[in-house]
Amino acid sequence: MRRPRIIVTRRWPEAVEQALQARFDVTLNANDHPFSAEEMRHALTGFDAVLTTVSDRIDGGLLRAAPLRCRLLASYGVGYNHIDIDAARELGLCVTNTPDVLTDCTADLALTLMLMVARRAGEGERQVRSGQWKGWRPTHMIGTRLSGKTLGIIGMGRIAHAVAVRAHHGFGMKIVFFNRSRVEPARLAGLQAEQCDTVDEVLAQSDFVSLHCPGGADTRHLIDRERLARMQPHAFLINTARGEVVDEIALAEALQRGTIAGAGLDVYAAEPSVTPALLKMENVVLLPHLGSATRETREGMGMRVVDNVSAFFDGHEPPDRVV
Ligand code: DGY
Repeated sequence: MRRPRIIVTRRWPEAVEQALQARFDVTLNANDHPFSAEEMRHALTGFDAVLTTVSDRIDGGLLRAAPLRCRLLASYGVGYNHIDIDAARELGLCVTNTPDVLTDCTADLALTLMLMVARRAGEGERQVRSGQWKGWRPTHMIGTRLSGKTLGIIGMGRIAHAVAVRAHHGFGMKIVFFNRSRVEPARLAGLQAEQCDTVDEVLAQSDFVSLHCPGGADTRHLIDRERLARMQPHAFLINTARGEVVDEIALAEALQRGTIAGAGLDVYAAEPSVTPALLKMENVVLLPHLGSATRETREGMGMRVVDNVSAFFDGHEPPDRVV
């Protein structure tokens, strides 16, 4: 029987590529270049499944223009806002993602950003490396502690819950959150956290605000100039969700003016570009979209895709089907 023809848009961990090769007729991206629109069109028209990821752009125009051979878009990552889901649904495509396996590592990275920005770790490291450090002194590089502070969470999904557990049990932080739907206490699994009715209520009382909502039209610039102005001047904004959730220009202005104290970012609206003003600021920690970047997690994500693709071509419901 003919093996399904699949194409992988980026390099994936070796063990995962081998697992794919053992089961399918696979085309890999040996030099890991980002696909152009033309290459994506070729993938959609010439392969049974496209194994995509967050650095791709699969918009409605591309999907509707191509005479599709592809029946499955199996995405490597939990967020899938790089795919036009409405167009995929309309065209009868199956779309899968990789939840759960990256929850802990992404939560760890949100805590990393909180600690780095509050304790001025990036700034301190730059000082040591540049030979500018003059030695210990009582007033040197004073930061802010996490312990006992209030963490505000926007979007209480799996990753947010893992962040809240770490912050509450590890640092004794009080947790307040906004979520579009009511979160039943059972879903909080014993975590003490107070649900607020509005984003603004969370912003007004938090010392740290961590974003965990999905990307997309509904959440684009959710944190804009007005919302930044609702935060406390000593507060820090943390984003491990999607860059477009924050208006980066407004954020840079807010940081310059002292509207908020600092920001820790792992994601950007136009990756890999970063709003230039942010690059110059000491009170911003900038990481290159590392949320899920551990060996264990990246392999786990890939194996989850292998399971989804295998189920699909075996005629079963893929475990992580989103469309
Ligand atoms: C995701 O999974 O959506 C991340 O952004 C990549 O790990």
